[in-house]
Amino acid sequence: MRIASIVGARPQFIKAAPLSRVLRQSHYEMLIHTGQHYDYKMSQSFFDELEIPEPDINLGVGSGAHGVQTAEMLRGIEEVLIANPFDVVLVYGDTNSTLAGALAAAKLHIPVAHVEAGLRSYNRRMPEEVNRVLADHISTFLFCPTDRARANLASEGIVEGVHVVGDVMLDALRERMRIGLDASSFLSCHGLQAGHYILATIHRAENTDDPHRLAAIVRALAALPEPVLLPLHPRTRVKLARLDIKLESENVCIVEPLGFSAMLTAEQQARAIVTDSGGVQKEASWLGVPCVTVRDETEWVETVESGWNVLVEADVEALVRTVRAANRPDAPRGSGLGPEEASSRIRVVLEESLK
Ligand code: UD1
Ligand code: UDP
Repeated sequence: MRIASIVGARPQFIKAAPLSRVLRQSHYEMLIHTGQHYDYKMSQSFFDELEIPEPDINLGVGSGAHGVQTAEMLRGIEEVLIANPFDVVLVYGDTNSTLAGALAAAKLHIPVAHVEAGLRSYNRRMPEEVNRVLADHISTFLFCPTDRARANLASEGIVEGVHVVGDVMLDALRERMRIGLDASSFLSCHGLQAGHYILATIHRAENTDDPHRLAAIVRALAALPEPVLLPLHPRTRVKLARLDIKLESENVCIVEPLGFSAMLTAEQQARAIVTDSGGVQKEASWLGVPCVTVRDETEWVETVESGWNVLVEADVEALVRTVRAANRPDAPRGSGLGPEEASSRIRVVLEESLK
């Protein structure tokens, strides 16, 4: 099988790591990096740490408005797909790189395999929702992490090519756990005590692009009684500077984006996590750490149903109250989320369908 895998943003490197390893055992994979994320700590550090093969091609598209960024990717990916024959094009998640990869392939009549298909927030104001809906509707293989994702697709009339395979992010997490996390050196390096700090990540457009929401989140983090570790996404850094929102507070420790093992350690050792990240919500549940998600809705409904995750508005008082109250529920860790070994199941489906 000849596979083209399209990646571009941090969570896609993490998702691609286990699947790429499994596919390359017996197939040819060309890895195409769109260049959507390019800072060392948002991109190359994951290739180094997770031993992802160097991209065969980096389109170097970089940042830009949605139309410009997606168009540049589309142009670059199309050129590569025309120059090289492929049996399938793999796309991950819901970023602009996902949409560009799916669209370029579908127009060239190359089957698209969408990993993490069927997720829905039902909020079309999110760029990610537009990307995932469109990608799903032009995909030949829809690899869903959960039964709910399959049901979401069915309600839109998509039933062909749908496979519930589990979650490649759990494969990635388990790989890191097998290697081992060095909690004591992480904690001492950051001056933190296990179970006595809050880990926070904020990057979603709906929070960072709204000055009121962003200011409220920053004020809430500063008002928490425990130390807060905040690995700052570059988007948030840019927006804070542009809006002149100061994040100077004794209890908030701002650090550069973390590597994957360091991030998992930071999650695992925290008393609770505050986030708007999709991946972090799931990891909190798998690792058994209470999560507070600063969003009006989530695609990972299972994490809320099990009690491991609580949604909260971007309001100082509500956020502080919810984080203080965040506790472990009775439900087992990871309840309702997809199982591991998704990477192997995806390989089997592709091999059986494309032989
Ligand atoms: C993108 C995805 C989002 C995903 C996130 C993962 C889209 C529409 N959004 O959001 O779904 O959750 O990645 O992290 O695809 N920047 C840098 N250096 C970088 C990358 C970005 O400085 O290496 C800054 C630039 O100012 C850029 C901004 O971050 O304009 C936003 O980057 P972009 O890739 O457009 O979207 P993300 O917010 O990262
Ligand atoms: N992550 C990381 N370092 C960080 C922040 C996040 O390694 O400083 C990892 C996190 O553990 C998860 C993934 O990045 O596996 C989530 O990516 P992100 O939050 O950027 O995007 P989303 O999942 O919201 O699309």
